[in-house]
Amino acid sequence: MKSKMFFFIVLIIVFFVVGIAAAEQNKAAENMNLDGGRRGAVNFPHKLHQAAISDCNACHSVFPKAAGAIKDLKEKKELKSKQVMNKTCLKCHKARKKAGEKTGPTKCSACHVK
Ligand code: HEC
Ligand code: HEC
Ligand code: HEC
Repeated sequence: MKSKMFFFIVLIIVFFVVGIAAAEQNKAAENMNLDGGRRGAVNFPHKLHQAAISDCNACHSVFPKAAGAIKDLKEKKELKSKQVMNKTCLKCHKARKKAGEKTGPTKCSACHVK
């Protein structure tokens, strides 16, 4: 009886900790404004992407989960200008368009606003 109780308490603690960790991970803003240089800023619907693409690493294998990460890496020359745009954003949008799946924009002015 006692051991069952102990198991139950451990289970509750585990659920609690996992729950907090998941909430921490998801603290990201719903919409973000990315620096698009001279072509104009890019409004990025982060939450929409989290819902559409379950794999965080589709993007976060290229840059960390931090606000301003892309700009920082570009300034440190660890990412080239337009690298994220071409190899992450557009690569996925184009591939999905070709596959006839729900996708995002590929036209300059649909992402960049001045
Ligand atoms: C389609 C690409 C993409 C996917 C998928 C994605 N993210 Fe992000 N995430 C971004 C971009 C872009 C930024 C902003 C980086 C910057 O400001 O330079 C960002 C920033 C963040 C931040 C910091 C934002 C803030 O407001 O402080 C967190 C936390 C984060 N992401 C968590 C996640 C988690 C967790 C997942 C998976 C469930 C995920 N992201 C999936 C693109 C993505
Ligand atoms: C899916 C959204 C999207 C589309 C479509 C898009 N861009 Fe971008 N663009 C971005 C993002 C995000 C960045 C910032 C990250 C980077 O430099 O890779 C960027 C960066 C840039 C930069 C570099 C700015 C700098 O100072 O480093 C230029 C120039 C640019 N885009 C031009 C264009 C042109 C021209 C087109 C149309 C042919 C276009 N973009 C289409 C999202 C997009
Ligand atoms: C792995 C695939 C993938 C990557 C990477 C990706 N997107 Fe998307 N994007 C999507 C899908 C799927 C949708 C359509 C989601 C929906 O409508 O439910 C979308 C939609 C969008 C939209 C339109 C939102 C709307 O309200 O209609 C914008 C803007 C956008 N993406 C910008 C970006 C930018 C900027 C990046 C790079 C930082 C990026 N995406 C990276 C898959 C991706």
